[in-house]
Amino acid sequence: MHPTQILSSEHRVIEIVLDALDRMAEKTLADGRLEKEPALEAIDFIRHFADGCHHAKEEGQLFPALFEKGFPREEGPVAVMLQEHELGRAFVRGMDQAVPEASEGNAAAVQECVAQARGYINLLRAHIQKEDNILFPMADRMLSGEDQRRLAEAFDRTETEEVGEGVHERYLKLAALLAERYGVPHESLDHIHGHGSTSCGHHIHD
Ligand SMILES: [Fe+2]
Ligand SMILES: [Fe+2]
Repeated sequence: MHPTQILSSEHRVIEIVLDALDRMAEKTLADGRLEKEPALEAIDFIRHFADGCHHAKEEGQLFPALFEKGFPREEGPVAVMLQEHELGRAFVRGMDQAVPEASEGNAAAVQECVAQARGYINLLRAHIQKEDNILFPMADRMLSGEDQRRLAEAFDRTETEEVGEGVHERYLKLAALLAERYGVPHESLDHIHGHGSTSCGHHIHD
């Protein structure tokens, strides 16, 4: 599998959790109160899978490979993707900070938490579209067969050396649980097990 295909298949998992988070936000407004446990699970997923595993592969491996090919660092598509990763982290921090009071029904905290969650959802959905439709095809045209092979090896190395067994699987399971709880179709997750990795990179960005 091409490295960009691995990243795109991770996008499909992330989108399922974004859909669940969207429904969680709706329910939170309707109830006037946040459900604490699933909210913390969604934040855990975002930090460890979406950001830790997935964005770490992009930032640590794919983007540097593109810089080597002459992609500009300070402007252009990769610079925009990096800025959006940072914006995403800020939304998640905002969400996290509002969780304790929002789960006690504090009206301002509920509004704040939902606003931060929706900001994150909108940002990430558009971000994923840009990567899948623009950046990744561009990367595939620029990277030679040898570059692709090296990148795939680097992905594998990160996954086996930096993380324990079963982490990737654990977060797929968590995505399925969140989807189930909020009525989001998630059958596609059954087909997203075997892209040659048993786990994923594990950097946390707080
Ligand atoms: Fe990204
Ligand atoms: Fe991505």
